[in-house]
Amino acid sequence: RTLFFLTPEGTLRPLAIELTRPPIDGKPQWKQVFQPSWNATGVWLWRIARAHVLAHDSGYHQLVSHWLRTHCVTEPYIIATNRQLSVLHPIYRLLHPHFRYTMEINALARESLINSGGIIETSFSPGKYSMELCSIAYGKEWRFDQEALPADLIRRGMAVEDPTAAHGLRLTIQDYPFANDGLLIWDAIKEWVSDYVNHYYTDASLVQTDQELQAWWTEIRTVGHGDKKDEPWWPELNTTQDLVDILTTMLWVTSGHYASVNFGQYTYAGYFPNRPTIARTNVPTEDPDDAVWKRFKEKPEEALLRCFPSQIQATTAMAVLDILSTHSPDEEYVTTLKFRV
Ligand SMILES: [Fe+2]
Repeated sequence: RTLFFLTPEGTLRPLAIELTRPPIDGKPQWKQVFQPSWNATGVWLWRIARAHVLAHDSGYHQLVSHWLRTHCVTEPYIIATNRQLSVLHPIYRLLHPHFRYTMEINALARESLINSGGIIETSFSPGKYSMELCSIAYGKEWRFDQEALPADLIRRGMAVEDPTAAHGLRLTIQDYPFANDGLLIWDAIKEWVSDYVNHYYTDASLVQTDQELQAWWTEIRTVGHGDKKDEPWWPELNTTQDLVDILTTMLWVTSGHYASVNFGQYTYAGYFPNRPTIARTNVPTEDPDDAVWKRFKEKPEEALLRCFPSQIQATTAMAVLDILSTHSPDEEYVTTLKFRV
């Protein structure tokens, strides 16, 4: 875990890193705190500790924030949309542009990224436990109602409800573009979805008696997300507002949320020392050994290079992040611009 200082400018500065290894192979639990340092040994230990934190964060980002919370959970929405709604249905037409290419890219990901022995397992820190991590996070954490941006920010402690603040939320960290920009986009999507839904559904009875729509929502909850079918938090679909809220969440996840976790990947992580995908060696203080320590003191930079991804892991990750960060040539934009006459 990493402890940050929230500066008066509203940005975060790392103060300390605690690395922990649970008891394993008869060895007791090990843990140690590292801090930024000015002495030669401390500087290199901090860099190695930092590589470990970033490798964990990189794995979580790829498997939970990116794959699970966007690509993966959207599949049941797409399948139900195609199975239950006519292509002429207004909700089918509203959703369609947001679902383009998701099934195709998920199929490609299953072939070479998240498959057993694939790029994620061989180049990212969770290794062969990658899919297990993903499925545990889905089981323990994922809730449809908390994928709405305001609820997501509150759940993660990044905002508190405040009826007097813009968007009804006060941010815990002011310099947080995902929240600041995201809430503008969230509001624009919500306004667009409200106008659209209210045009077709002038009262709640039209939502309740739309058999295609009800079958669509039932399939998403009880078949696509069948493992969670008995969860009490699934929104009801009885009113036009229910429909607006459900659709706004789906459109947000597949546009704003998706863009923020996907398209910046090469910029942030293409240069691997800034964000290594894996830490291959333990910190030299973890299992004290005179020879290891002597070698570390003499050539600390070699210890950091051994810890960083290997050449093949680094170049593979760079190539993949470059491809993932590429925009579709026929991309369409959501705009938040409003014109007042
Ligand atoms: Fe993606």
